[in-house]
Amino acid sequence: MEKDVYILGIESSCDETAAAVVKNGREVLSNVISSQIAMHTLYGGVVPELASRKHIENINPVITQALSDAGMTLQDITAVAVTYGPGLVGALLVGVAEAKALAYAAHLPLVGVNHMEGHVCANFLENTELEPPFLCLVVSGGHTHLVRMKDYGEFEILGCTHDDAAGEAFDKVARAVGLGYPGGPKIDAEARKGNPQAISFPRGHIEGSRYDFSFSGLKSAVLNYLNQAEMKGETVNRPDLAASFQAAVVDSLVSRAIMAAEEFGEDKIVIAGGVASNSCFRETMERECRAHGIKFYRPRPIFCTDNAAMIASAGYYDYRKGIRSGWDLNAIPNLKFGER
Ligand code: KG4
Ligand code: ZN
Repeated sequence: MEKDVYILGIESSCDETAAAVVKNGREVLSNVISSQIAMHTLYGGVVPELASRKHIENINPVITQALSDAGMTLQDITAVAVTYGPGLVGALLVGVAEAKALAYAAHLPLVGVNHMEGHVCANFLENTELEPPFLCLVVSGGHTHLVRMKDYGEFEILGCTHDDAAGEAFDKVARAVGLGYPGGPKIDAEARKGNPQAISFPRGHIEGSRYDFSFSGLKSAVLNYLNQAEMKGETVNRPDLAASFQAAVVDSLVSRAIMAAEEFGEDKIVIAGGVASNSCFRETMERECRAHGIKFYRPRPIFCTDNAAMIASAGYYDYRKGIRSGWDLNAIPNLKFGER
């Protein structure tokens, strides 16, 4: 029988300091997330310098908590997995330096993990039967990717955004309508009170590339709508605007995923990333997948947002493949999907 593998995952790419212990890539033994949202809210968005400082303060307590919640010490851990990109360089460096120090001191292997691949692996944490190949829509604050996970650690990129990421569009529109930061959950809540058909916003597409996304035209259309209303002295119905904007984003995402599943004969679609906790996105995807005979998987919202359990899961599959990082592991802020 194979020995159980316990991975300590560490994540600090943006505004969450997180650590988790995951058994055999699937079973979450602990998952600790220290969010900095309250601090960044004061500035209307993530301030990179402050994020790094907060990570430095929080990283040791968060790791200690993750080990203790799992009922473990470093001696019980098989390997340390850490996000080394993409993300904010100063923030990433905190996690990378910490992981190196821990792994070196405890004589453990070190595995550098691509944050975006971690998001995809969040789906393995609770869907024990899920195995690649499948199609995945990874939708976060900085990225929007439609990929095929062909095997563990093997990705084919079908499309990505040419301008704003979907989460970025949520955040910018939320700011423009006075909902503040972080925009995604606030637009989601506001949209529940509105009519998604009230305003017809454009569904952006890129000429000649079926699976790429564009959200900057939609964002401009919302800003124009707000300006026009202001010039005419009209009050904007914020719930209707939120619902109509959200419907346009969700439509762009879902239609491409279904189109790709049909073209490539994929019978499973998974979603991942912060925007995957959007209620309209989850419901629409579920409905469309059912209508097309496709199995649909999504992580619980706590595993959609940045967390270290997903990093430990991705780290497990890399570890199983024999992938190890050297003591010279560095942060790569613009690390591409599928790259290492
Ligand atoms: O994956 P994530 O936690 O961090 C990055 O790696 O970027 O994603 C954060 C993004 C933010 O843009 C946030 O507004 C968005 O996910 N988000 C949502 C929702 N919850 C978070 N967007 C739409 N609806 C939500 N419920
Ligand atoms: Zn993320």
